[in-house]
Amino acid sequence: MAKAPKALCHQCPLKDEPFVPPSGDANARCVIVGEGPGRTEVAEGKPFVGQSGKLLDAVLKEVGIDPEDTYRTNVVMCRPPGNRAPTEREVNCCLPRLKEELKHTKNPVLALGKSACEALKIDWTQRGAWLYSDVVEKTVKPAWHPAYVLRRPSEATMLIAELRSYARGEGAQRIFEPEVIWAESPKHLIELLLRCPDDAWVAFDIETNNVMWYDRPDKMSDAILMLQLAWDVDFGVVVSDELIYDYPETAEILQEFFNRVKTVGHNAKFDAVFLRSHIGVNPNVTFDTLLAQYILDENMPLGLKTLAALEFGIADYEKELISMFLKSRNDDYSKIPPVQLAEYGVLDVICTLELRERFEERLRENGQYETPFMDIIMPASHALENVELRGFQIDGDALKKVSKLLQEKIEETTQKLRDIAGDPELNPNSPQQLSEIIYHKLRLPQPRSYKIKKGSTNAAALEALKDEHEIIPAIKQYRRVKKLFTSYVNNVAPLRDKEGRVHGNFLIYGTEVGRLSVRDPALQTIARPDDEYGGMIRGMYCAKPGYKLIHADYSQAELRVMACYSQEPFLLDAYRNDRDLHSEVARAMYGPNFTKADRVICKMFNFSYVYGGSEYSFADSAGLPVDTARNFVRQYNANMPQALKWKSEQFKRAQKQGYVETIFGRRRHFPLITRTNLDEVRKSCVHMVIASTASDLTLKSLIQIENEGIPVVLSVHDSVLAEVPEAQAEEAARRMEQIMEEMGRKYLPDVPWKVDAEIRQHWYES
Ligand code: URA
Repeated sequence: MAKAPKALCHQCPLKDEPFVPPSGDANARCVIVGEGPGRTEVAEGKPFVGQSGKLLDAVLKEVGIDPEDTYRTNVVMCRPPGNRAPTEREVNCCLPRLKEELKHTKNPVLALGKSACEALKIDWTQRGAWLYSDVVEKTVKPAWHPAYVLRRPSEATMLIAELRSYARGEGAQRIFEPEVIWAESPKHLIELLLRCPDDAWVAFDIETNNVMWYDRPDKMSDAILMLQLAWDVDFGVVVSDELIYDYPETAEILQEFFNRVKTVGHNAKFDAVFLRSHIGVNPNVTFDTLLAQYILDENMPLGLKTLAALEFGIADYEKELISMFLKSRNDDYSKIPPVQLAEYGVLDVICTLELRERFEERLRENGQYETPFMDIIMPASHALENVELRGFQIDGDALKKVSKLLQEKIEETTQKLRDIAGDPELNPNSPQQLSEIIYHKLRLPQPRSYKIKKGSTNAAALEALKDEHEIIPAIKQYRRVKKLFTSYVNNVAPLRDKEGRVHGNFLIYGTEVGRLSVRDPALQTIARPDDEYGGMIRGMYCAKPGYKLIHADYSQAELRVMACYSQEPFLLDAYRNDRDLHSEVARAMYGPNFTKADRVICKMFNFSYVYGGSEYSFADSAGLPVDTARNFVRQYNANMPQALKWKSEQFKRAQKQGYVETIFGRRRHFPLITRTNLDEVRKSCVHMVIASTASDLTLKSLIQIENEGIPVVLSVHDSVLAEVPEAQAEEAARRMEQIMEEMGRKYLPDVPWKVDAEIRQHWYES
């Protein structure tokens, strides 16, 4: 007997498992399809009543859907043993039943998770878009499964966005069918642009065949294939590569146009750098939708297609229009026929134009429009355009030297590993060969942690085995030098332009805590200068001939920020009286006769304090027994009760508001706090606020330094590096100190600020 109408139970491997019928009214506002019932669902006889169901209910409420006003069902009605995903056969046996059920439901389907999407044959990657399922002949919106979100709590933001877009309803879906108008000549371009009112918002974007915008000695830069402009959803203007490169008047026409309108782009720094370097046109970007989304919620994906799906419900037009011409995402866009590329590119600018309006409204609602968006983020984006265009000089001889040294180290460590392993053929890049040696030949014990797979040689496994055999530190050493060579030498050399400069890509949205990151080359992840290799690699970077580098660095920026936020008297006193904080702490912890070693320990802990490290991580890094570390932390906290109180208030804010906020209006969101991320939240609600504030002081300084005509080449953590003519170095160094110290005083006046600016030829000099 079938358990439900049309179910093919007699053929189904799950026929003897307990089953859970659907719940709710077929006319309900929200029709939910999940994967299959879990233990609690079986116990209560209803779908989505366990942990996932509770989260689902909370998110439904958040987006304005009454959890009672839902119809809930699953791809399979019976519980797959051990909570596994149902097999294709099981799904197929239950599918006629699901089709029959959904026939009677009124509203579109919300498909939760991959199994539901696969059963309905819709594209699981297009979460947020309205799609059509031929299987059930209904409109469907795919979304994350709440069970996944319980494991990855930061994804709650995405689940909320997906359900919000479902709640807006199918009727809110935007359909863009813009006309694509090609500018046929410079004169025609002028005519088209005259249609645009002064001061209008204009979305712009370029398509390029790839992302390299500058020439290297043996390789030409990539090229602009077209420029698209839109100030109205009904049409987009396309300027071809021919018009861009072959008609010098085009640049003038575009520049004049950009000067009289307000421009918006998605990740517009990329387009601006290309346009400025290739045809000397500066689009003066007023608004960047990607950066706006990042400020609104650092947990959200930032891709234009995903945002278009979530905001407008539209399916991925990249897949529809151009993906078939490309082998991979990095493939050459000139393979795409211009007509399709233009159609795609115009949709991009229309979506950007429409997103801008929504994002501005939300930023204003949050009180984030003026600060940080308009007074930090957008000016930072402009300043970094200059920094990227300028580049950073590499000393070719130093690069060769470091390269040679690291290659010798690789050979040396390879030889050492082979000797220890007793295998002259050992390939140290092969995890299989290393695993064989570690676990079979040397019979080291398999670490007992569920996080470490059997036979693994990953970093966690090596850490667990570090005291077991001399081969372990040797492998670690080999991997370290190999990685340094690859990331900081081998991958960097081909990035140099004809003058030997590299032009890193600065990501304002690169970290969740709001710090900048840099790619190609990764200049910010180079080890500290006091590291054996960190100094050497930094030493490859220099000022060009006749110029000097100025390295201006905030002293203890994060601890000063912490003092201001927490108002901890111990910290405030130390800074106000210009006493050495590390010695002050050592005195408080160990008495007046503290030793140098005591001060070192206190220094280490002071810096890690703002990261909220546990006694275990402290014990590990300071080489102390856990009990000693625990006592240390206890006493340290007793010395700084106000700092401890502030930390716990931060956590309460995170719980209550779902986010914490800096004085510059940057937020770190914690949409869902569970056992999985509790420790993480406790740490980041403190650390983000401190790190982001110190970083924004640096960023604001960078903007001013650049605006005053001192050319910046890099910013790492709380330092700014500029490159100036030798004769101006002294003056520029003093000015940079002034700007940075004043910035600290202006926003965080409770402590004095100290900046040291050094004049150097190389980034690091021993
Ligand atoms: N997960 C599902 O997919 N369905 C339920 O009913 C409960 C949890």
